Amino acid sequence: MAYSSLYHGLRPYLRKHWWRITGGVLLLVGANYYQVRVATVVGQASDAIKLGSANARDFVNYALWVVGFTLILAVCRLFMRLLIVGASRDIEYRFRNDIYEKLLRLPPSYYDHQRTGDLISKVTNDVEAVRMVLGPGVLQFSNSAILFPIAIFQMLRIDPLLTVVAMLPMAALPFVVNYYGNRIHQRFRRVQDHYSVISAMVQENLAGVRVVKAFCQEEPQIRLFDQLNDEYVRRNMSLAKIQSAFFPMLHTIAGVAVVVLLWAGASHVVTGRITVGRLVEFSLIQLMLFWPMMAFGWTVSLLQRGAASMERIREVMVLEDDPALGSRAGRVSLPQDSSVEFRNLTFRYTPDRPPALRGITLKVPAGSSLGVVGPTGSGKSTLALLIAKIYPTPPGQLFVGGADVCEIPATELRKRLGIVFQEPFLFSDTIANNIAFGAPTATREQIIEVARLAHIAHEIEQFPHGYDTMLGERGINLSGGQKQRTALARAILRDPEILILDDALSAVDTETEARIIESLREIMRQRTTIVIAHRISAVMHCDNIIVLDGGEIVEQGNHEALLALGGLYARLYEKQQLADSLEREVG
Ligand SMILES: Nc1ncnc2c1ncn2[C@@H]1O[C@H](COP(=O)(O)OP(=O)(O)OP(=O)(O)O)[C@@H](O)[C@H]1O
Ligand SMILES: [Mg+2]
Repeated sequence: MAYSSLYHGLRPYLRKHWWRITGGVLLLVGANYYQVRVATVVGQASDAIKLGSANARDFVNYALWVVGFTLILAVCRLFMRLLIVGASRDIEYRFRNDIYEKLLRLPPSYYDHQRTGDLISKVTNDVEAVRMVLGPGVLQFSNSAILFPIAIFQMLRIDPLLTVVAMLPMAALPFVVNYYGNRIHQRFRRVQDHYSVISAMVQENLAGVRVVKAFCQEEPQIRLFDQLNDEYVRRNMSLAKIQSAFFPMLHTIAGVAVVVLLWAGASHVVTGRITVGRLVEFSLIQLMLFWPMMAFGWTVSLLQRGAASMERIREVMVLEDDPALGSRAGRVSLPQDSSVEFRNLTFRYTPDRPPALRGITLKVPAGSSLGVVGPTGSGKSTLALLIAKIYPTPPGQLFVGGADVCEIPATELRKRLGIVFQEPFLFSDTIANNIAFGAPTATREQIIEVARLAHIAHEIEQFPHGYDTMLGERGINLSGGQKQRTALARAILRDPEILILDDALSAVDTETEARIIESLREIMRQRTTIVIAHRISAVMHCDNIIVLDGGEIVEQGNHEALLALGGLYARLYEKQQLADSLEREVG
């Protein structure tokens, strides 16, 4: 049920703020009590006028009472708002933080089939809809719920029969509200869902703007957007239609209630059952009830929206954290050194696909270097991702420093790792901050030092603001090779015990590659290095080299041994040698 999910989702937050909410509700009781008192005073003043029983001083007194009560109720309302709106803003803040934290704690495989736009809309739109329930929703709902009994009590005291007559038309309200509320809920959810689709499309088109342009897909993409936008408007219109029928309906009921009260009230006055002053007081109280009644309808539609959004948010919140983060109880072991060992490891991304790695048995001793080559799709990146625990491995198949990676908390493992991914990702931040991403306490000297080791320092110094140059959206863009070397500097700065380069030098020329590998050899002497590459030149100096094909190790040995074997490695090497010498001749 939608509302129970709203309640369960918010309960922990409401608990933290119970004193603010209770305080706010108490103030509301005060405000509403004095509001009804104002009506009573006005009623008494009307009677005094009618009977001519009061002098000028009495009227000044009446006026002073009205002003005094109004002041009290205004102060109550002011502090009630401060308390409740303050609490709702604070809950919104915590709630959004928690969702974001959850998103970062989910297993990386979750993102393999999610659209970023949809996730963004959960953190923005849906959180806003839930906050509306907490702030204006709670406020209006408590206001109505408190004013009703106070007002009805006072009305009953004046004239029970008249109360029944005045409230009868209003009894239709819950039914009308319920009917429309449910429909609003469904239509709003359809709008929200579609908004996610649009966000996702815009986000992907902007991120991939070069591809769109290079393939001349602007027009088709604009047309597609147009269609989506059209559908969005259509769904919004259907929501607007039902909403625009909703409020006039409420107004009609209110109008009928007024007419009925005047008709019945006037006849009571004529027969002398009540005084004019009492009727004035009565109709003032009825007037007071109109807004809370309509607000009650509005609150219900807010609740519907909030519940719809909470469902979308809870879809994420109920997911399990990445088990690799070690949040689940279990055995914990820590690596003793920087060796890496695979024992007959077989891994598949999804059960319905063939394994990406098959029967891998391999030992990389601490401090040694491993080269990994193989055709595209042979499982090289998968190997790197498994060592970093980005995907879970079956127990007993992968060991780092003698400990099963399943038992090493991911943070402990990743502290020891420096990894350069095949597709380097840089943030829209300064170059220095990008390099220091994994080591926020690094000094400027250290940053410059690693930039030098990654052979990017010289180019950074040429930029307008050097290391403080902004990248990405608000700054300059780096070339593919510059990005790779910045990512490399970032990995080295963490001073890792195990360094993994996944095709990390593919975009730099062979000469720079050789120089970088030379400097890496220096710093990685005591550490374990895994170099994944397509070019033999990047791995030929490694202590051990494996050749992967179709997820299996098909050849293994050092450069000389593999050449002597005359297999896949040797053929690759020959081809690359040939290409290099051709290039040199042409160049
Ligand atoms: N997230 C994923 N979900 C499902 N399958 C995947 C995923 N990532 C990779 N694969 C599949 O796993 C296999 C191995 O991919 P992997 O990225 O390890 O290859 P690779 O050797 O690094 O290739 P390349 O040289 O092109 O980088 C491929 O068949 C690929 O389709
Ligand atoms: Mg790869």
